[in-house]
Amino acid sequence: MLATTVCSIDPGAPAPAIIATAAQTLRRGGLVAFPTETVYGLGANALDTQAVARIFAAKGRPANNPLIVHVADLESARCLAAEWPDAAVRLVERFWPGPLTLVVKKTAAVPAIVTADGPTVALRSPAHKVALAILAAAGIPIAAPSANRSSRLSPTRAEHVRRDLEGHIDILLDAGPTAGGLESTVLDVSTPTPRLLRPGLVSPAEIEAVIGPIERPHLSTSASNDQPLRSPGLIGRHYSPRTRVECIEGNACRRVDELSHQGLRLGWINLGEEKIDFPGVICRIMPRDVRRYAAEFYAVLHDLDAAGLDCILVELPPRTDEWLAIHDRLRRM
Ligand code: TXA
Ligand code: MG
Repeated sequence: MLATTVCSIDPGAPAPAIIATAAQTLRRGGLVAFPTETVYGLGANALDTQAVARIFAAKGRPANNPLIVHVADLESARCLAAEWPDAAVRLVERFWPGPLTLVVKKTAAVPAIVTADGPTVALRSPAHKVALAILAAAGIPIAAPSANRSSRLSPTRAEHVRRDLEGHIDILLDAGPTAGGLESTVLDVSTPTPRLLRPGLVSPAEIEAVIGPIERPHLSTSASNDQPLRSPGLIGRHYSPRTRVECIEGNACRRVDELSHQGLRLGWINLGEEKIDFPGVICRIMPRDVRRYAAEFYAVLHDLDAAGLDCILVELPPRTDEWLAIHDRLRRM
């Protein structure tokens, strides 16, 4: 076990002394959990095989699941990419820094452990002052998956990181809740037609408005879990609370009534309805606006998961493109 140092840091004006310590820890091969605009990341020097191995160990992450490398800017990204296609040029101009991860052919500078031995690397520049300050101070690319144990819910607050990883990381920077609340969109631009690997905060429509049609091979808003997934890390159960999750079309009132009569302790993620009191049921009303919903989504699930319930009932959002990322996560819980 490590002694994890938890430091509060101002998301609007990160203290240079704290940033310098975090950067130095990373340069020495340590692990630093830090906020991004999506979720908290678990960072290590992407060019240091041993440091990256510590990420896999801390998360219990399978070695065949590659990591996203975070970079300060376009120039640092291009140093790690063997090719920088036209689509990447245009997407970076529009979305970086921001929640869009681009998969490109890698150079030999990127260690095999980062990419799970594959020929491509996933790159993104995060739109968060703390993350960007660390990248600038450290002067290295930072490999950072979400700062949770493998297959669990991503953390949107420092306390979520603490619950999963305290004692396994050197430093945790607490900058309060992350604004986005959901992971970045992962887009493979290494193939002639860009392919959406993971829907996220940047929608397919926003991407297509910049580069034209993209492939979305395995994605749908259907609730079924039986379609094969193409990205190495996107197979099967993922992003899960420990508590069983049941998704409901429309209003879950009847199901809540039925299960609570069976004596089950329930969580109810309710989509913008008036609060209805059922004894012993924890009801959370969610915004109908997708961005506001996404910002709260994991935090609500973390809370309900910690409440010792038998089941969490989730009312499914509309089956429209803008809700694709939420449907994707729910499908794999
Ligand atoms: O918002 C985010 O993306 C957060 C923050 C911390 O940046 N990071 C994150 O990382 O969600 P992680 O490791 O939890 O998810 C990365 C996803 C995985 O599904 C992984 O399989 C995929 O990106 N990925 C990484 N490298 C890849 C590659 N070379 N080819 C295809 N998929 C890749
Ligand atoms: Mg993750």
